[in-house]
Amino acid sequence: MLDRLDQQPPDALLALIKLYNADPRGDKIDLGVGVYRTGQGETPVFGAIKAAERKLVEEQDTKAYLGPEGDMGFVHALMPHIFGPDATNNGRIEGMQTPGGTGAVRLAAALAKRAGVGRILMGTPSWPNHAQILADLGVEMAPFRHAAEDGTADLAGLKAALANAGEGDALLLHGCCHNPTGIDYSNEQWDEIAALLADSPVLPIVDLAYQGLGQGMEEDAYGARAVLAAVPEALIAYSCDKNFGLYRDRVGALYVQAREQSGLDAILSNGATLARAAWSMPPDHGAAAVRLVLRDSAMTEQWLDELDQMRTRIRQVRSKLAEAGVAGSVDLRPLGIQNGMFAMLPVSKEQVQKLREDHGIYMAGSGRINVAGLTLDNLPKFIAALADVTA
Ligand code: LMR
Repeated sequence: MLDRLDQQPPDALLALIKLYNADPRGDKIDLGVGVYRTGQGETPVFGAIKAAERKLVEEQDTKAYLGPEGDMGFVHALMPHIFGPDATNNGRIEGMQTPGGTGAVRLAAALAKRAGVGRILMGTPSWPNHAQILADLGVEMAPFRHAAEDGTADLAGLKAALANAGEGDALLLHGCCHNPTGIDYSNEQWDEIAALLADSPVLPIVDLAYQGLGQGMEEDAYGARAVLAAVPEALIAYSCDKNFGLYRDRVGALYVQAREQSGLDAILSNGATLARAAWSMPPDHGAAAVRLVLRDSAMTEQWLDELDQMRTRIRQVRSKLAEAGVAGSVDLRPLGIQNGMFAMLPVSKEQVQKLREDHGIYMAGSGRINVAGLTLDNLPKFIAALADVTA
């Protein structure tokens, strides 16, 4: 029976990690999967997380099971950072821990489906796993164009999609640092989106996976907060994988805003049964470390400093790319006004392959680059190679 299963291609992005590792060239450049890298090309554990982990080893006296909602101390400690001073919006927001941002997005979509959502509107291109999760859950995806030609967000595309949507639809938005384009809505555009959603039965789902890597922790929460302030109900899928550097520890959360505080229990009980059936309960270690960081003001400050340094470096690389202007047929200038780790270059699959084979430069087949893979040392090589393959 099992031999009926067809061979599936490996996940293209994750396969790149192996390809890169197997390349013996000393000057190869990894612009593939979204992990932050320092100016020396490293992805160190945050100092604040190391300190919290040491404390955890000292203080943790059991590893007995938690429930499907995971570490609620972690879930609550994050809330003021995501939602601001009124972190529960008058008691209407509550959450649960999930295995990474992927677990949060999956749970959000599954919960929406259980509540009657049959179709999710989504700006494309998007993170490839979004479409994969929806397909796996049997939820239809309705794509609209996310990026306009000038490298800014195509708000008209979103408006047209919303105008044709209704009851039983949800809208998946990237809260900040759009993956894969780096093209975010401006605050004014978020205000417009929030006002449109306020007058619409469409359920907003905000994927907030890169808070702090765009313009700052507060600034990057603008969109999610604007939407939550305007609408009765929403789902927020959150990831700590990037902004706490906890990638393989799988640390995320799903937050629910209910119409009324009294509605939260029933919604979250559905989240709990879905989680129980899928993964029972989320892994604890990384979330516990985040909780310790956020409950200690010195460690919180250290974490925010480390996050500042990451964001500053990403912005520096973006400025350098924008200053370079044009490389072959690629206009790099819009990268200066975009946010976060990712940018989409208008290169063909053949050009991506040539960059890999001829120059040892690894990026997603879509033309997405992780700008954090660039350093002052390897940037000239990257620009010259891009000029070479697109000339
Ligand atoms: C990425 O897009 O590179 C990251 O979100 C990692 C992943 O799981 O795809």
